[in-house]
Amino acid sequence: MLHSEFYLFEEEKPLRCTVRNYQENDFQELIAIQSECFPPPFPDELWWNVEQLSSHLIHFPEGAICVEVNGELAGSLTCLRISYDPAHPHHTWEEITDNGYISTHDENGNALYVVDISIRPKFRKLGLGKLLMQNAYYVVIELGLDRLLGGGRMPGYKKYAENLSPEEYLKHALSGKLKDPVITFLLRCARTPVTILPHYLEDEESLNHAVLMEWKNPFK
Ligand SMILES: CC(C)(COP(=O)(O)OP(=O)(O)OC[C@H]1O[C@@H](n2cnc3c(N)ncnc32)[C@H](O)[C@@H]1OP(=O)(O)O)[C@@H](O)C(=O)NCCC(=O)NCCS
Repeated sequence: MLHSEFYLFEEEKPLRCTVRNYQENDFQELIAIQSECFPPPFPDELWWNVEQLSSHLIHFPEGAICVEVNGELAGSLTCLRISYDPAHPHHTWEEITDNGYISTHDENGNALYVVDISIRPKFRKLGLGKLLMQNAYYVVIELGLDRLLGGGRMPGYKKYAENLSPEEYLKHALSGKLKDPVITFLLRCARTPVTILPHYLEDEESLNHAVLMEWKNPFK
């Protein structure tokens, strides 16, 4: 199981951090974090519930990762293992994650798939999201998988939708013409785009679109 303790700096101030696997006694706090991270118009039925979180620990406890700052839960990343065929990249969030229950976890799968990453608003822009992603990369390497994948929402898209297709919006994010809160974050985490996933998730701000983004295991 994962456990790592270290210091992170908020300007000059060291903050004591722990990255570890989440457990049952973290569930209420994890649900509170989701409510802070996905406020309306995001549908609240898409926040974690206790049944989904319990299911993560049954199917793939190694993929249930959280970070604490000075003893307070600051965010989480959840993933599962899938069999991925690069010739058929299209899917929805619901079908690939069994609606967040991850019963689709395949213990022989060749790829790690990120179901969710959320950092509490008051702990954002400290590097914690990137840190959780790095820990997921460690899981990819530890398990000898080919890559990490996940659909990145594009919450900035709605504002541009009249003038740009999702593909053009992504192109602009890649050229630096615009910044998207999730896609730009993922690019800064060393993820690269594979394809646009239309109808990925009910998500008004992204007009239901996501970008499938990967990180390839550099040792394979
Ligand atoms: C996306 C999210 C996880 C980022 O977490 P975070 O801890 O603030 O991100 P970090 O501080 O680790 O940032 C890592 C990099 O991304 C960049 N970044 C972070 N948020 C960004 C934003 N809103 N716009 C542009 N770049 C951003 C940072 O500048 C940093 O760049 P650097 O490492 O080159 O300096 C967080 O904003 C969040 O929880 N959002 C709501 C939930 C969500 O939409 N999750 C994604 C589901 S697909």
